Amino acid sequence: MSQPLDSNCITLTRFVLAEQKKVPQATGELTQLLNSIQTAVKVISSAVRRAGITQLFGMVGETNVQGEEVKKLDVLANELFINMLKSSYTVGLLISEENETVIEVDLERRGKYIVAFDPLDGSSNIDCLVSIGSIFAIMKKEDNTIPSLKDALQPGNKVVAAGYALYGSATMMVLSLGNSVNGFMLDPTIGEFVLTDKNMTIPNRGKIYAINEGYTHLWDDAVKEYVQNKKDPAKGKPYNARYVGSMVADVHRTIKYGGIFIYPATSASPKGKLRLLYECIPMAHIVQTAGGLASNGKIPILDVQPQQLHERSPIFLGSKDDVQEVLDIIKKHE
Ligand code: AHM
Ligand code: MG
Repeated sequence: MSQPLDSNCITLTRFVLAEQKKVPQATGELTQLLNSIQTAVKVISSAVRRAGITQLFGMVGETNVQGEEVKKLDVLANELFINMLKSSYTVGLLISEENETVIEVDLERRGKYIVAFDPLDGSSNIDCLVSIGSIFAIMKKEDNTIPSLKDALQPGNKVVAAGYALYGSATMMVLSLGNSVNGFMLDPTIGEFVLTDKNMTIPNRGKIYAINEGYTHLWDDAVKEYVQNKKDPAKGKPYNARYVGSMVADVHRTIKYGGIFIYPATSASPKGKLRLLYECIPMAHIVQTAGGLASNGKIPILDVQPQQLHERSPIFLGSKDDVQEVLDIIKKHE
């Protein structure tokens, strides 16, 4: 039997508007900005669901700034984020995983916010229909000068809002405005994101570890010891291993069920793989707001001062006690 329609449902738009009204001096710009991201995500979700039919799968035949093959869906998602954000009249500068340099917004449409985003993360999972996602972090420009690279290189503790969209068995948007984390499921029958996961909090300890174990031979001794412990019955009840290979899916599961997600430094990639500005920082902001921890192994991700636009960082993120456990082992090995 189908559910009755809720005549008073809390949509993402309604939620953001209500949050805006709590701040008397708010101008409504952040609300407008989040609406533009919401539109981009809805179109991406629709494209992801229809990708096979509309032949958006497969390579475009070019490589992105990281030297990876660009898929058609990646291109579409990137264009959507850029076009929707520019036309929101709220941003001055955009940072995208797909663009080598910062994207400046023309003067007439310029606003005070800066958005760093990965329009479609988990590229290796696109063609086999495994979950993929979009990630974003929103910062404010600190002064009235022309937006430049230095405005983009802000540490995570300056982020005003962050979120991700997961194109999984359903499409979900998770948003942190710094005081709480809330999840909104896309109801395809009405085309709206509806609040389903109010005030999300991450358990203090979980039973799952997520790391690409194919790289074990490239890890340092601390990471090897930690992961070995998680499988050793002599060290406690062994954890379950889960690794999707899409950061959004792995992080979403970690928030919902608890546990730890790790993408460490390896001898081949001493700074890890994931990007600080639009992968690590937004996820760290969300996880910390939900009561978890996110570290680069030495300091909190949110305290790292970015030096470069596409800089990478190792990341240890998840339940407080699980992350603390690995940090203690790292300390012991120093
Ligand atoms: P992408 O930006 O090319 O999609 O790569 C990022 C993805 C993350 O979603 C995921 O956590 C990681 O790469 C997986 O990497 P690996 O295949 O090395 O385990
Ligand atoms: Mg990515």
